[in-house]
Amino acid sequence: MTDAIQLERERGLLTVRFNRPDKKNALTRAMCSRLAEALKQADSDPQINAVLITGSSECFTAGNDIADFLQQPPSSLDSPVFHFMLNLLDCRKPVIAAVAGAAVGIGTTLLLHCDLVYVSRDARLRMPFVNLGLCPEFGSSLILPRLLGQAKAAELLLLGEGFTGEQAAAWGIATEALGSGEAALAKAREMALKFESLPPEAVRISKQLMKAPDRELIRRVIEEEGALFIQRLRSPEAMAALSGFINRH
Ligand code: COA
Repeated sequence: MTDAIQLERERGLLTVRFNRPDKKNALTRAMCSRLAEALKQADSDPQINAVLITGSSECFTAGNDIADFLQQPPSSLDSPVFHFMLNLLDCRKPVIAAVAGAAVGIGTTLLLHCDLVYVSRDARLRMPFVNLGLCPEFGSSLILPRLLGQAKAAELLLLGEGFTGEQAAAWGIATEALGSGEAALAKAREMALKFESLPPEAVRISKQLMKAPDRELIRRVIEEEGALFIQRLRSPEAMAALSGFINRH
């Protein structure tokens, strides 16, 4: 299971790779714990300048593992998925994402907390929380309406409409859309390695300043969304939708 999250060091860059291809890189509790730990370590290791999060050239991640959600749903903010996302939120080093293929649920939400996001033009992003009887998570109900306006954000969060990497870049969710997954990863890596030649203290302070104005508000919204998400997971609507996905064949 540890292999489902691969960690690679290349000079000052830590690459964190989702590697569970048979399940479209869906994130289990164990994977979230590993991600939380990797981000915490990167944050405190003075040799690491930046973190790159990626999947494969076919799939970023299908989001939280739905079977896990049914068997062992998170019951409080002290759960692996919250540890992972809160460590992402608190990471003082730049976090860069390279996205190709499907980025569903938390696979899209986590991008809202990365500093630089490179996507393939044909990447398929989607936050089908309502469709699954759930609700938005990790600040997306605040960040997306601010970024896209209420009307566009409603298409993504109330209807659960999917969108492409090209749209993500046009709307400011991604930094740039590139011609292929390989190109997105190459560009993400190239930009991530640039942090090696920049003064780390200046980078850290600048990131902190960019995040500071909304920091407390985002954290409060995450707690509100999290409490409702945990309730929704146990609702008949969500149980039916999640079981429907697992038993669809
Ligand atoms: N949790 C658990 N298993 C998942 C999963 C998830 N989030 N997403 C995909 N899988 C599994 C499928 O059950 C399937 O397993 P099986 O081969 O044992 O039946 C395998 O991964 C391949 O998925 P499949 O749907 O057949 O691949 P696809 O290429 O047709 O579609 C996706 C890929 C990502 C578009 C599709 O799997 C999907 O929409 N997944 C659900 C994503 C979701 O709703 N996430 C939000 C969770 S809150």
